[in-house]
Parts: sequence; C-alpha cells; structure tokens
Amino acid sequence: MKTLVVFYSFDGNTKLIAEAIAGEIGADVLELKPVKEITRNNFLKYFTGGKEAMTKAEPELLTFNVKPENYDLLFIGTPVWAWTYAPALRTFFRDHKPVNKKVALFCCHGGGPGKFFEKFEEAVSGNEMVGKIEFKDPIRNQKEQDIEMAKEWAKLIIGK
Ligand SMILES: Cc1cc2nc3c(=O)[nH]c(=O)nc-3n(C[C@H](O)[C@H](O)[C@H](O)COP(=O)(O)O)c2cc1C
Repeated sequence: MKTLVVFYSFDGNTKLIAEAIAGEIGADVLELKPVKEITRNNFLKYFTGGKEAMTKAEPELLTFNVKPENYDLLFIGTPVWAWTYAPALRTFFRDHKPVNKKVALFCCHGGGPGKFFEKFEEAVSGNEMVGKIEFKDPIRNQKEQDIEMAKEWAKLIIGK
C-alpha cells in the first residue's frame, strides 16, 4: 500500500507529528507551503491566520512534484485555525481532493478544537476514513509521549 503523509504546519507541531508518523511507517511526505505565509508576529498571527481560515481563503501553494493521486492511503494533518483546518489544506482539497482513498486525519490545536473534525471529515467525504487523532500543542506539552502516540497510531492504521 502506497502511503503519503500530507500536512501543513506553521509553528512546527503538526510537522513534528507528521515526521513521527512518516518515519515510523516509511511513508512519503508532502509538506504544503503557501507562497505567502501569514505574519510571524505572535500576536497578529491569530488575526491574520484566523481571518484567512474564516473567510475560507485558498492561498497559492509552492509547487510540488508528489502526486497524491498515486497513493492508496493519505495521512492528512493540519493545525486547527479558527476551529477549522488551515487554509493551505483548503487549497490542497480544491486541487487534489482525494477520492476513493483511505484517509487518516490528524491535527494539533491549542486546547479548543471546537467542531474541527466535523469540517475536516466533510472535506474528505467520498473516502474511507480509517482514523483520526488530535494533539494539544505537542512541542510545549507532552512532546515525547505524543511522538510515541503518533507512531503507535500510524502502525495501527496501516494494519487496517
Ligand atoms: C491563526 C491561528 C488560529 C488558531 N486557532 C485555534 C483554534 O481555533 N483552536 C485551537 O485550539 N487552537 C488554535 N490555534 C492554535 C494552534 O492550532 C496550535 O498551536 C497548533 O498546535 C499549531 O500547530 P503548528 O505548530 O503545526 O502550526 C490557532 C493558531 C493560529 C496561528
């Protein structure tokens, strides 16, 4: 089974989890990167990023050579932004929405995901959902435990 880990990460939490998953199961990795990132200002980023998420912006992404269509199983990861998935994922779903694949969803959040998973699951409708998992800011909380949890989860998923 060909497996791809697709993710976007602004502050590195989702990247940490994505790399733990990919490393554990030997999957290919696709990191989504907007051409123009939101501000790095720690205060303003919530406003600019939150606005993009709420207005359903679809930022242009740096081009990539990976063809998600060629994979059987996609792990898809995002930080929660304004109770939904990050805008980079919205662009990805517009251009490469998986169809008839197995999908496993993961996210990182700061403690208030709200109805995040409802929206994320809706975005991948038409696929077989094989799992979902969330992490609360792993870098500053339970980094090592969360890495282990992500690895165990990934093994469970590919066993399905
Ligand atoms: C623009 C923006 C909006 C956010 N909105 C939420 C939110 O609605 N709920 C939440 O729990 N955390 C929210 N967060 C916190 C991030 O989801 C959390 O810190 C996550 O671990 C960051 O992942 P990353 O390091 O991969 O970017 C937000 C962060 C940013 C920058």
